Amino acid sequence: MPILTELSAWTALNAHHRMMKDTRLGDLFAADSRRGERLSAEGAGLYLDYSKNRVTDETLSLLMDLARETGVEEWRRAMFAGERINITEQRAVLHTALRQPREASVVVDGQDVVPEVHEVLDRMAVFASAVRGGQWLGFTGRPIRNIVNIGIGGSDLGPVMAYKALRHYAQRDLTVRFVSNVDGTDLVEKTLDLDPEETLFIVSSKTFTTQETMANAASARAWLLSGLKDGAAVARHFVAVSTNADAVQNFGIDPANMFGFWDWVGGRYSMDSAIGLSVMLSIGPDGFSELLAGFHEMDEHFRTAPLEGNLPVLMAMLGVWYNNFFGAQSHAVLPYDQYLQYFPAYLQQLDMESNGKHVTLGGQPVDYQTGPVIWGQPGTNGQHAFYQLIHQGTKLIPCDFIGFCQTLNPLPTPGGPSHHDLLMANVFAQTEALAFGKSLDAVLAEGVEEALAPHRVFEGNRPTNTILADRLTPRTLGALIALYEHKVFVQGVVWNINSFDQWGVELGKVLAGRIVPELGTGPEPQLKHDSSTNTLIRRYRERR
Ligand code: F6P
Repeated sequence: MPILTELSAWTALNAHHRMMKDTRLGDLFAADSRRGERLSAEGAGLYLDYSKNRVTDETLSLLMDLARETGVEEWRRAMFAGERINITEQRAVLHTALRQPREASVVVDGQDVVPEVHEVLDRMAVFASAVRGGQWLGFTGRPIRNIVNIGIGGSDLGPVMAYKALRHYAQRDLTVRFVSNVDGTDLVEKTLDLDPEETLFIVSSKTFTTQETMANAASARAWLLSGLKDGAAVARHFVAVSTNADAVQNFGIDPANMFGFWDWVGGRYSMDSAIGLSVMLSIGPDGFSELLAGFHEMDEHFRTAPLEGNLPVLMAMLGVWYNNFFGAQSHAVLPYDQYLQYFPAYLQQLDMESNGKHVTLGGQPVDYQTGPVIWGQPGTNGQHAFYQLIHQGTKLIPCDFIGFCQTLNPLPTPGGPSHHDLLMANVFAQTEALAFGKSLDAVLAEGVEEALAPHRVFEGNRPTNTILADRLTPRTLGALIALYEHKVFVQGVVWNINSFDQWGVELGKVLAGRIVPELGTGPEPQLKHDSSTNTLIRRYRERR
């Protein structure tokens, strides 16, 4: 693979950036009255307005050249075909197979994986229907009313995000909770008001070795047995989602109650596998099918649409433009929908665990920036917290605004506009303000005294994307998640990194494993860390 910064499209973009860096969005809009309609694209029910970006037609064409020159189309084909593009783990990357329709076929190592995918989905559906319908009985014969998913990272963030996002479609008499943190507070608080006789735990872990999940699962079992007093109860109150059947069995969970997936599904790409069981329990098998259909629709858009009108490609390349040429360090995701409150947190793992890499596929240190810091929270709350910095701070922060034309909770304000109109007015106002700002002249013309005027100036020229969908449905959510999955993929290809491993989380895990015995209550062991770590461990041992 040639060096990224020496590619002709990269060199051309560098030169183009020198011309573009002071170009103002206001001027770009003034020069083209149709810019707002022209710089938009649509796919899988999502409308993307990318006109409020600091780009011209030439910028976009150069960015697409870069995508082509870095092999985005070839890598896309390789991913969908099940080639082992996760080279450090020698694995295929096939989360797209999880949402293929029943009649499709995806062959990996000579075997069609689609029938296996649907076999697991069918078993999940039977189980979910039995729990939802009250036919799956706990050990004492009572129906299950509470579901607690135990998992962390990809075995938690996707399910909890989707559960919250699709709460409108939930079976309301089921309580669904998520325990992830090894901090005992998480499990204690989430089980405090639950009755073990009516509680089902889903232990979700791809590896079934993750320290936090195993500790929480063991304590959950102890909690259950302290109520039900019989080890046989575990079979009625614990199910597992994992790729590791032996470890599941060793834990004491009946293999009949295990829902599997495959090593070609990365943890952060797994919420549409059996890892989504808690979501299926909440919204039902039909709702889950719709979610998968939304994913698939975006997969097809990504796979087939020309790069110039391809939503994930456009968003990825605009991200590269700011990250690598404007030096932007972060990217904010701002959903204007309370149901999407966990979406930014979910994207943090998806994006930062995927593209937080410092060497190329060939193992050479990169000499350019890779993944940005991803952050955000739902609007309008963020407006009253951190938007000040986005509007008037010194950092360039490209933002994605996400909104819906129809609300799931129509609520008229007595005597005023509806809540939803108020919400959406803020989406449109924020992107307008960020793009066009307010000049010193405009501030002075309002009669603001000269000394105060600079404080009231908005420079504008802050880039945003707006993603607009009709309504938040399981299908829309699936499309939205797949949009970001593929955006991350495209950026990883451009940066020539492996978006599908996560060795960066290993060192901390290993060191924690070493320190755990040193915190035991016996005599102080010989501590062989640096003086800071030794002192901290001693102080903890003395004062706990
Ligand atoms: O944080 C590292 C990681 O391996 C993630 O990639 C993964 O989603 C998470 O841990 C949980 O892993 P598991 O599902 O195997 O418990």
